[in-house]
Amino acid sequence: MNADLVRDEIRALHAYPVADARGFIKLDAMESPFAFPASLRAGLADALAGASLNRYPSADAAELKAALRRAMRIPDALDILLGNGSDEIIQLLALAVARPGATILSVEPAFVMFRMIATYAGLGYTGVPLNPDFTLDRSAWRAAIRDTRPALIFLASPNNPTGNAFPPEDIEATIEAARAVGALVVIDEAYFAYADTDFLGHVAQHDNVVLMRTVSKLGLAGLRLGLLVGRREWLEQFDKVRLPYNINALTQAAATFALAPPHYASLLAQARGLVEERARVRAALCTLPGVTVHPSQANFVLIRVADAAATFEKLLAARILVKNTSKSHPLLAGTLRLTIGAPHENDALLAALRQAV
Ligand SMILES: Cc1ncc(COP(=O)(O)O)c(C=O)c1O
Repeated sequence: MNADLVRDEIRALHAYPVADARGFIKLDAMESPFAFPASLRAGLADALAGASLNRYPSADAAELKAALRRAMRIPDALDILLGNGSDEIIQLLALAVARPGATILSVEPAFVMFRMIATYAGLGYTGVPLNPDFTLDRSAWRAAIRDTRPALIFLASPNNPTGNAFPPEDIEATIEAARAVGALVVIDEAYFAYADTDFLGHVAQHDNVVLMRTVSKLGLAGLRLGLLVGRREWLEQFDKVRLPYNINALTQAAATFALAPPHYASLLAQARGLVEERARVRAALCTLPGVTVHPSQANFVLIRVADAAATFEKLLAARILVKNTSKSHPLLAGTLRLTIGAPHENDALLAALRQAV
């Protein structure tokens, strides 16, 4: 094999790591712990059986977009673009702006795919460190926007892996600073169902903002479906980069069914239950000696312990898989990211942590 054929920056990457979770309580990937509601499974099976597998899927996925529009109350004035997970949407955005010298800006720590996809697309990437409490360092952020003149600014709120949401003032300051350099702000609301904030309104108000969501954190991670909401002028450009038929027929059928009003209401109710679990888990974690618990508006909690590697290993020995985030950024030293699971899973996690720390 002639490895030189592959670009240096790709050879330097590690593939996105996915741990083998078989036999473990799986609290590493912000999935919902709840299977699709049993009462809805027959209906789901019918919806899937009705999909035409001999045909390419609907190219515009109009029915699914209408279901998303209704469920998430997306105004008619805004368009929707679908991706095979929001990961694919990040890639579409990056490919569309990938002129020589173009860059992406985000905060640090942030969702790792922002940086990875920038690299895939041949874009530069700048990560502006957050404050130690993971709030936005507003002056450094504004200065970076001004100085690096990025094409795209990604801001996930709530942020992964820190869990905190950014206040509207931060989002507005970002939009204003982006406007001055002609950048597009991409607000990533992957965790919207668990947060008190909602920035959909900002997309309608500002012509330099688009917003991403996903159904992954809402109990439908297996479908791979993300959406971008924005003005037609933007989305019609990004749509040109999308591969035809990127949302397969089974995903379209299953998601259209799952997003119908009563079914979507049950998914949201599950998310509300997890928000209550989050409060219970955080309160219990706060009683553990030597454990710092960061605020969370998402379906996970970031904790800091004296020895993250040892704690992670002890949890593994108890057959519990969480995410060891301690090595991914200096601000994350000593941290573990714990996805909120079902109550019995959280109890097992808390018991194991009590032993471990
Ligand atoms: C902030 C953020 N954005 C996007 C994603 C990707 O979501 P999807 O499953 O839709 O690709 C994640 C997944 O962890 C995330 O944390």
